[in-house]
Amino acid sequence: MTAYKRKDGYYHKAKEEGYRSRAVYKLKQIDEKFNIFKEGNVVVDLGASPGSWSEYAVEKVGEGNVLAIDKERMRAIDGVSFQQGDMTDEGFTRKISIIAGEVDVVISDMSPNITGNYDVDHARSVYLARQALKFCYANLRKGGRFVVKVFQGEDFRKFMEQTKKTFSSVHGYSPEASRESSSEMYIICKGFQGVKKDGSWKR
Ligand SMILES: C[S@@+](CC[C@H](N)C(=O)[O-])C[C@H]1O[C@@H](n2cnc3c(N)ncnc32)[C@H](O)[C@@H]1O
Repeated sequence: MTAYKRKDGYYHKAKEEGYRSRAVYKLKQIDEKFNIFKEGNVVVDLGASPGSWSEYAVEKVGEGNVLAIDKERMRAIDGVSFQQGDMTDEGFTRKISIIAGEVDVVISDMSPNITGNYDVDHARSVYLARQALKFCYANLRKGGRFVVKVFQGEDFRKFMEQTKKTFSSVHGYSPEASRESSSEMYIICKGFQGVKKDGSWKR
C-alpha cells in the first residue's frame, strides 16, 4: 500500500484546511453534535500538542481565551497561551489552576504512551482522564462543559459514573473521525454542578 493510501481522508483534509492534525475532526464532530463552545468562552485544552484542538477552539471562542497544556512542546498558535508540563504532577496542576482561573470548557485528548497491552493502556488512559476531571473540580464554572478521551476497558463505566455525580448530562460518543481500529471513546459532560471545598458534591 502506498503512503498516500495509508493516510486516510481526514489526514488529507486536515492538510488542505491548514490544521495540524486529523484529530481536529473528532472535536469538530463532537462540537457539532453537543454544542460545546460559545463565543467568549475560556477553554483549557489538556494534552494539546501538536495543537489542532486548540486551533479549532480559538476559532470558535473568538474574543475568549484558550490555554493549552502538554507535557511535550507545542509550536505557538495565534491567540492560544501554552504551558508545558505534566498533568499528573500535583505542583504543575496547582500552578495551572491558578493561571487558568474559572473556565467554561475543559477538553482533554490526553493519551498515554501506547504499550500495546490493552489493560495497561486502558488503566493509564483512565488515570489521565481522572486528572482532567480533578482539574474540572478545581476550575470549571457552574454549568461548564467537559470533553474527555478514555480508552474503553473495565473501568470505563466506573469513570463515566463518576462524571455523572457532578454533571447534569453525560454521554459516551465515538466520532466518525476516530479510526475504526481505535478503542478510544469521548465522554461529553455538560452542566457542571460544582463540588464543595471539602470535595463532596454540592447537590
Ligand atoms: C493524541 S495527542 C493530542 C492531540 C491534540 N488533541 C491535537 O488535536 O493536536 C495526546 C497528547 O497528550 C499529551 N499527554 C499525555 N500525557 C500527558 C500528561 N500527563 N500531561 C500533559 N499532557 C499529556 C501527549 O504529550 C500528547 O501530545
